[in-house]
Parts: sequence; structure tokens; C-alpha cells
Amino acid sequence: MTTTTTDTTVTTAETVLEASGVTMRFGGLTAVRSVDLTVRSGEIVGLIGPNGAGKTTFFNCLTGLYIPTEGKVSYKGTVLPPKPHLVTKAGIARTFQNIRLFANMTVLENVLVGRHTRTKEGLWSALLRGPGFKKAEAASHERAMELLEFIGLEHKADHLARNLPYGEQRKLEIARALASDPGLLLLDEPTAGMNPQETRAAEELIFAIRDMGIAVLVIEHDMRFIFNLCDRVACLVQGQKLIEGTPSVVQGDERVVAAYLGTPFEGAPGAEEVAEVEAAEQHAGAAAAAPADETEAETETETEAEAETEAETTEPEATAEVTDETEATDEADADADATDEATAEAEDAESPDTPEASADAESDSTTSTEGDAK
Ligand SMILES: Nc1ncnc2c1ncn2[C@@H]1O[C@H](COP(=O)(O)OP(=O)(O)OP(=O)(O)O)[C@@H](O)[C@H]1O
Ligand SMILES: [Mg+2]
Repeated sequence: MTTTTTDTTVTTAETVLEASGVTMRFGGLTAVRSVDLTVRSGEIVGLIGPNGAGKTTFFNCLTGLYIPTEGKVSYKGTVLPPKPHLVTKAGIARTFQNIRLFANMTVLENVLVGRHTRTKEGLWSALLRGPGFKKAEAASHERAMELLEFIGLEHKADHLARNLPYGEQRKLEIARALASDPGLLLLDEPTAGMNPQETRAAEELIFAIRDMGIAVLVIEHDMRFIFNLCDRVACLVQGQKLIEGTPSVVQGDERVVAAYLGTPFEGAPGAEEVAEVEAAEQHAGAAAAAPADETEAETETETEAEAETEAETTEPEATAEVTDETEATDEADADADATDEATAEAEDAESPDTPEASADAESDSTTSTEGDAK
């Protein structure tokens, strides 16, 4: 396990996630190229990079949605099976770039769905509603309410998920992920579309999650958020890890700035442009106290809006085209994953493992609330 991190404070902590040499190809496109990443207990690690850099694809490789073309992913020393519900059972939970909630279920029910992988009661127990089932149901209910309290939504337990404001939907997704008692939480753009206050609250929430003993790997475009929050940050560009290190190291790296400006990072890093941006930022910073944050928030909202317009299609792997549909494909899969994690056990009870079939069914049943949210 070698990284280029300069962090020296957490070297003895337990390795929670270890991804080594992860490569994901779609036809001729290499979306993720030989990426190594380690997350240790007690850490919040950030994953940044321009649009299309491969961040979400990398998450999908970590969570079993995609089987990496090459490479290996281990959780606490055990290689993960490439199936989303087994990854969730192992201890990794995630949220999605485009919110995935059961729109017509209540807030509480959405969290209970996330609890499903941790309930041991089988199909017969559920049908007969015996004492074991009732006890487990009561415990799940209690845990779900605790989580709603944790995210500050207990007073909305009976509201339909689709009626929540956007920021609260994002928080609810986090609660649903936490309901599976993860040791590692993966967050894909958790503050996209949030206003600055909500973003700050999300930051506090993630610190609190870390303090609960859950390691966090978070994708974000909001640099202020990432550099405030993370112990370590890795930057992906064109599928490759460009740099990894402490926030100060990464934000001071001119290749990172160049990558965000679209300047090729190989060869000349575009020093002139970097200098120009730095001068402009200094100027802007002197002019007002917090405009940079607002600018970032705006950029991010646009990013999310762009991403979400892509999210309405169906079959994974059906096309090798490298188009916007790929995001939709990913989200259709992701949709399946969100609910797969919750319903897998019930399905397991009914039939042998049929991830494809369940994915389709759940894609239908899990109506995305993103339309409402927008
Ligand atoms: N299922 C797929 N089939 C084909 N290409 C895909 C698929 N999923 C992603 N891609 C492609 O892989 C590349 C990386 O996409 P990905 O969504 O991982 O980027 P990202 O870093 O998450 O971007 P953003 O910041 O916009 O969310 C893109 O070129 C995308 O079009
Ligand atoms: Mg993405």
C-alpha cells in the first residue's frame, strides 16, 4: 500500500478500504485507469476532479455496480464480491449523485428500507409476523428514528419523501445509507444543489458521522467544502490519479488548477493561466468576504443540473457509446443498487441471487425524486 500522501498522522489506523490498480474500460474508453486509493478508519477522504474524470465510475467499481476491468477492492482486508447488496452487507454504504429515494414512501419508510440488510428475519418470519419479527421491526423503527433525529428530520418522519426540499432529500439519503450500519460511507456530491448554509450543515453532519467511527470517502466539486472537510484529497483527471495529499498540498498544486480549467496537465501546466486565475481570485477575495464560496456553489448547481438532465435511461452495458447516456446508465444501475441494498434479503429469500432482474424491477419501483427536487 503506497500512496503519495504527505499525511503522517494516521499511518497506524486500520485500513478500511483498499483499492489497488482499479481500471474500468467501456469499449474503447478507459474511464478509470489503474487507480490506487486507501481509506483508513477515522478518515474523511475527498475525491475531486473535473466532470467526466471517472469519480462516479470509480465509486461504482468500489460498490460492486461495475466489475472493474482490472484491479482489486478490499474492505477491512477482505476482497469484496462484485455485487452491490453484498458490498453493503460487508459494510460499505453510499449515496448517489442524482438523489435516489422512494418518492412515494415516507421519510421514515425510506430509512427503514436502508435498514433491511441488517435485519435477520427471513420471509416466513415476516409473513407470520411472529415475536422475532415484531421485535426486529421495533428495533429497526427505533434505529430509524434515531437516525432521523441525527440528521434533524425526525419531525418529518411521516412526510412523503418527494415533498421534502432538495437539501433534506440529500440528508435523508445519508440517513438511509447510515441505516445499514456501514463502516465506510461513500458520498457522491452530497452538497450538489445545496445553498451555502445547507452546505455548511452538511459539513458538520459529515464530521459527526466520522466521529461515530465511520470512515468517509466523498466526491465533491465544491473545493472549499472538500478542503475544509477532508484529511486527504485525491484528484482524478481523465481517469488517472493526478495527485493525492493533504488539502494544502492538493490545493497548492498547479496541475489541479490547470485540470479544472481544462488545460492539459501533461507537459506545460499552463503557468500563465494559473497565474491569471490566482490573480483574479486574489482580486475577488479582496473585493468581498465570501464571494468565492458563492461562485463555487453556483458552479456546482450547474454541474448537478447538467448531470441530472442525463439521468433518464435504462439498460446498463447496452451501449458502448461514450455519451451522456452513460451517466443515465450508471444512474439506472445506481438506482438498482440503492434499493438492491435494501431489498436484497427479501429477494434472496424468494429466489436465488438475480441481480439483473432485481435491478430492473427496482429501477421501476424506485421513482427518482430528482424531478421534484429540481
Ligand atoms: N456505463 C458507462 N458506459 C460507458 N461510458 C461510461 C459509463 N459510465 C461512465 N462512462 C464514461 O466514463 C467517464 C467518466 O464518467 P464519470 O461519470 O465517472 O465521471 P465523473 O468524474 O463522476 O463526472 P461528474 O463530475 O460529471 O459527475 C465519462 O466519459 C463517462 O461518459
Ligand atoms: Mg460523477
